[in-house]
Order: sequence, then structure tokens, then C-alpha cells
Amino acid sequence: METIISGLKSGNIPCHVAIIMDGNGRWAQRQGLERSAGHVRGVDTVRQITEIASQLGVGYLTLYAFSTENWNRPQKEVDILMDLIVTAIERETPDLIKNNVRLALIGDTSRMPGFAVERLNRCIQDTSGSTGLTLCLAISYSSRWELTEAVRQIASEVREGTLNPDQIHAETIIAHLATRNMPDPDLLIRTGGDMRVSNFLLWQIAYSEIYVTDTFWPDFSQLDFCNAVAHFQKRERRFGLTGEQVRKS
Ligand code: IPE
Ligand code: IPE
Ligand code: MG
Repeated sequence: METIISGLKSGNIPCHVAIIMDGNGRWAQRQGLERSAGHVRGVDTVRQITEIASQLGVGYLTLYAFSTENWNRPQKEVDILMDLIVTAIERETPDLIKNNVRLALIGDTSRMPGFAVERLNRCIQDTSGSTGLTLCLAISYSSRWELTEAVRQIASEVREGTLNPDQIHAETIIAHLATRNMPDPDLLIRTGGDMRVSNFLLWQIAYSEIYVTDTFWPDFSQLDFCNAVAHFQKRERRFGLTGEQVRKS
């Protein structure tokens, strides 16, 4: 593992990695277990992947933990997921501090139970002094929610007269997104094999490199993460330019 890490570090490490952690339910069902068993195992994967991202020197790791649409799952599963997320984060907070990891949250907290918001905010506060990896959890998040909020906010600034419509640029929109303090993801990983983005960071992934693996999230290992980064390092990012232009600069 050490040689793999140092090999990757001699190349270009993505500053921001975003992950759609999918496949917990299928992982559990495949072994005849309840879906919730997959979510429990998924928490272990979160710890492993946070650790390897931090070791590689990734700046931001955004994990899609619970989408706006996931509120429509059976209430029992929703309750288990909320409880699991909060409990796991609280349990991990001392280690996050020790490993210099700062916790952040994006999502519609108004839909989350009060206890969850309160306890997650405490963890965010407790890790606020960390200067290493930012671990950003997307909970009760969807891109359409985020963009709708941004439009609402921009519209009210225009109405109040503090924003001129002629002055609305891409930067204005970026400044009103939940991710306003983060760079766009360089690499987007989806586990579980489905080739879709499921309402995740639609604006921000405009030029992200996408890596999809069939591996279910509970089975996704540190080595798998390194593999995704290795694939990223082989890609030529052109941002609309020609290959010749990119290679010249
Ligand atoms: C991802 O696993 C976790 C969440 C969406 C909360 P799933 O629960 O979606 O698992 P599958 O996709 O049904 O296997
Ligand atoms: C995406 O997974 C959301 C999270 C990983 C939290 P889903 O399982 O909800 O997405 P779909 O339903 O397959 O699109
Ligand atoms: Mg799923």
C-alpha cells in the first residue's frame, strides 16, 4: 500500500473527490441480510476511504450520504439511516480531530430531525480547527434543491436592490451554492455500477472526470480508491480545448 500511495503522490492528486456511495442495499440482499446491514457496513467504508483520501493529500472529499429523494424510502430505513449517520460521525469525531480532518455538511437541514442537525453541528464545530482534508457530507442534499435555493436567494437580492440582474454571472451562482467554499470536484466516483448522477452536484461536475465501478459501497476498498485515482491520473482533461492546446500549456 505504501508504494501505491507514494506512486500516486508523485502524480497529480485530485483536489476534490466526490463519491456517490451506492449499493449498500444490494450488497446486503446478496448475502440474505436486511438492507440496513449494508448501511452499517457502509459506515466502515466511509472510515477507510476518509483515511486513504487524507493519506493521499486529497483536499476535499464529498460523500453523498442521503439524497432529497431518499426521504421517500420506507420510514424505517430513513430512521435507521439518520441514526446511523449521526452516531457514526459522533463516534469518529475524536479520530477526525486527531487526523486533522474538518467536517462540513451540505443539504437541506430543515428537513432533518432536530437532534441530527444539533449533533452534526457540534461535530462540525469540534473539527473546525483542522487544516487537513475537508470531509463534506451531503445529507438531505440534491442539486435541484441547491439550485432552487440559489435562485430564490438571488431573486430576493434583486428585489431588495442589492443585486443588479446585469451583474449576475456564473460566479454569482457559484457564490450561492452550498458548495461555495469548495473547488469543483476533479473526480466523481460512483459505486454500485449505475451510470447516472442521481441529482448530485449537477452544476459542480461540469468538468469532473467520472469513474463508475460495479463494486458495491460496502466492498469498496482503499485499493479501489487508489485505482480510481490512478485512472484519473491517466485522463487528459481538455476543458473544451484541443489536445494540442492542452499539451502545449
Ligand atoms: C446507498 O445504497 C446508500 C443510500 C442511498 C443512502 P442504497 O441504499 O441505495 O443501496 P442500493 O442501491 O439499493 O443497493
Ligand atoms: C444516490 O443513490 C444517493 C446516495 C448515494 C445517497 P440512490 O440509490 O438514491 O440513487 P438511485 O435511486 O439509484 O438513482
Ligand atoms: Mg442505491
